[in-house]
Amino acid sequence: MKNQSNFIPFAKPYLDRKEERAVLSVLRSGWLTTGKVALEFEREFREFIGAKHALAVNSATAGLHLSLESLAIRPKQLVITTPYTFVASAEVIEYLGAHPLFVDINETSYNIDLLLVEKAIKRYKKRIACILPVHVGGLACDMHRLRELARHYSIPIVEDAAHAFPVQLEKKYVGTFGELGVFSFYANKTITTGEGGMVVTDNDKLAKHMQILRLHGIDREVWDRYTSKTNSWYYQVVSKGFKYNLSDLCAAIGRVQLERAHEFFLDRKKISRLYLDGLADCDFLCLPDNSTAHAWHLFIIRLRPQTLTITRDEFINKLQQAGIGVSVHFIPLHVMPYFKKRYGFKAEDFPIAMRNYLSSISIPIYPGLSEVNVKRVIATIKKIGYSHHK
Ligand SMILES: Cc1ncc(COP(=O)(O)O)c(C=O)c1O
Repeated sequence: MKNQSNFIPFAKPYLDRKEERAVLSVLRSGWLTTGKVALEFEREFREFIGAKHALAVNSATAGLHLSLESLAIRPKQLVITTPYTFVASAEVIEYLGAHPLFVDINETSYNIDLLLVEKAIKRYKKRIACILPVHVGGLACDMHRLRELARHYSIPIVEDAAHAFPVQLEKKYVGTFGELGVFSFYANKTITTGEGGMVVTDNDKLAKHMQILRLHGIDREVWDRYTSKTNSWYYQVVSKGFKYNLSDLCAAIGRVQLERAHEFFLDRKKISRLYLDGLADCDFLCLPDNSTAHAWHLFIIRLRPQTLTITRDEFINKLQQAGIGVSVHFIPLHVMPYFKKRYGFKAEDFPIAMRNYLSSISIPIYPGLSEVNVKRVIATIKKIGYSHHK
């Protein structure tokens, strides 16, 4: 790093006195874990997003797991998903003894290719238990088409909307198209609770089931026991369960962040516009798809390797040396040693995922990233690209 004080991090949560006050108030209340604040957070979230139920959980991974549990996915069944995602999307499928059925992505959107989804359904028929699309980087999958397809074959959808809050596709929030939708509040996400997540659904039965599974299979929520005047000690375990509840400490941060979600979204949109305009004339780049709803959790640029004399990794090193934090989304799951060994994948099994991975760089985007710094990122990308142009 040339100058540490000038470093532009890749991601940074936006938190201030309001979050501090909210946490302090919980600390002083005498009740730290899941209670009234988590309940309020759930109510506010479900009103915000327009879903009948919202269940706060301690990670999106937990939320995805609960979703698949509530759908009673069985061992050896298949769940269609993308290899171009974080491992959480696929590992939860294996928690149930089921298998991820990867299909390749669309080159421009980075999202699952719906023609390939249909092909997979036709090939594997009744073994397909669920479709788990990921809105990569916050760019919405074509949920209208996917929903039509899923309905036609009577397959439920669990949306991995970890990146996609809060964005609407024709006035309906992404994450509310499937039977279930899951959001992440991990530290670098569009709103954060440090660690946390939310599952949304309109289905009463699935919500009730997840509520029980979320807390050790107990038939009443902790806050009932806490607030109820009589029999506050009494509970019944009615099924196997998990420890997936969100604490009031985290929920307090979430409530403040939720109030700011639209403001954050506008900031991200503004930064994406600056990048799209500022980098439009770079013939050595492909810019992200801007033609549909995008939450702009990530801004992924793709190098055109045939135009450059340096590799993607060298490009990344040069950005880092110039004091710009970057990342790569994603290393496809089929080339991860675990999945490779388990399913015998070869890199070329998902050629588009592989090609996009090898040429992609995620550049900084977050509320609080100044216009001056965005312009510095743009200028640095141009300088590197044009000084290593073929
Ligand atoms: C696409 C995707 N799904 C799920 C997750 C899991 O989120 P969490 O860390 O809240 O469990 C992540 C985390 O980064 C993600 O990128």
